Amino acid sequence: MKDTIKVGIIGVGGTISSTTVILNGEPNVELVALADMDANRRERVLGDIKGVQVFDDYQKMFDTCELDAVCIGLPTWLHAPVSQEAVERGLHVLCEKPPSNDATELVPVTQLAKENGLIYMFVRQSRFSAQLMEGRRLVQAGELGDVYYAETRWIRTRWSSARGWRHDKEKGGGVLLDLGIHAIDNVWFMMGCPRPTEVMAGLYCTFSHLVPPDQTYTADDAACGFVRFENGCTLHFAVAFSMNTTNRQSPDKNSDLVNKEIQEFHLYGTKAGLENGKLLVGTPGGVKVKPMKPSPQDADDITLQAREFIRAIRDQDEPLNSGSQAVMLMQILDAAMKSSEINSAVTIQPVT
Ligand SMILES: NC(=O)c1ccc[n+]([C@@H]2O[C@H](COP(=O)([O-])OP(=O)(O)OC[C@H]3O[C@@H](n4cnc5c(N)ncnc54)[C@H](O)[C@@H]3O)[C@@H](O)[C@H]2O)c1
Repeated sequence: MKDTIKVGIIGVGGTISSTTVILNGEPNVELVALADMDANRRERVLGDIKGVQVFDDYQKMFDTCELDAVCIGLPTWLHAPVSQEAVERGLHVLCEKPPSNDATELVPVTQLAKENGLIYMFVRQSRFSAQLMEGRRLVQAGELGDVYYAETRWIRTRWSSARGWRHDKEKGGGVLLDLGIHAIDNVWFMMGCPRPTEVMAGLYCTFSHLVPPDQTYTADDAACGFVRFENGCTLHFAVAFSMNTTNRQSPDKNSDLVNKEIQEFHLYGTKAGLENGKLLVGTPGGVKVKPMKPSPQDADDITLQAREFIRAIRDQDEPLNSGSQAVMLMQILDAAMKSSEINSAVTIQPVT
């Protein structure tokens, strides 16, 4: 491996805007180029950073610049084709979540990366948070006993955002791909990423009348379901852009308008449970509630994630957010969509 890793940015969407600035400050990393079709967003992200070639077309960047790696923060429907092209050009890839529209288009990307000794990593910055790291450590250390059930929710009471492609099912819109991947991965990561075998789910679009009149909403705005894993664990998820709920928090008065967002992720094992930062230790008479004590992190989640990408490239090692996990996550989401379509459970086959 060369001393300096030369990085290009394709699309400054999602967390890739922060990742751009972070990588610029990392030792032995050179931020060579940035491609985004929006000049204002390019300038906003680069700020005072000098010496970076800018492009409005990522193809021009590919053709012009000598790069080792790219970070991709494009609208979801472009993630897989652009990752594929980057890998074909011999580049390591860090790609925003969701890594693709479906597992079928992601498999060739991760397989080619593996065959060619390239790192493919997907963005899931929360995995680097002290809370999820500590949850995973407790599971690995056996503190929860055998984990057999997980519950995860990310519910918005009302969705007010009006960004175009998120409305469009064909372009990777909808709550399952947007929040579902985060919600499911929060618990799946702590469980140790067992292989999914079956999903039963329902997807709904019941609040499309709330989008601005000049827009059309064709995607799901709520999704709930149940995932079964090879090791016998089960996981229940519920995600929504809009739902008639108080998110289980009581409004102060009956007339209060509730418009909130809540994330809950719970794991249950034979010895103890984990509920949003609390360890629930089982005793014969009930549960003892203890605060989790995560080790302090020396940087924020997105910085740790960017460093993990660089470490994996340098050490030629599998990153924490690996390509095979990205494929399994997409298989869960694909199976949830299919299950809703056919009104039946869907079996997931391992990728060969
Ligand atoms: N990890 C997270 O917490 C997180 C948070 C927000 C968004 N995201 C993900 O990030 C991705 C982007 O989301 P967003 O809300 O920022 O979207 P967005 O549409 O606002 O931003 C996408 C960026 O890509 C650029 N772009 C679009 N087409 C392009 C092209 N052909 N060539 C070059 N540049 C192009 C746009 O100018 C824009 O800067 C989505 O997949 C989303 O799921 C992740």
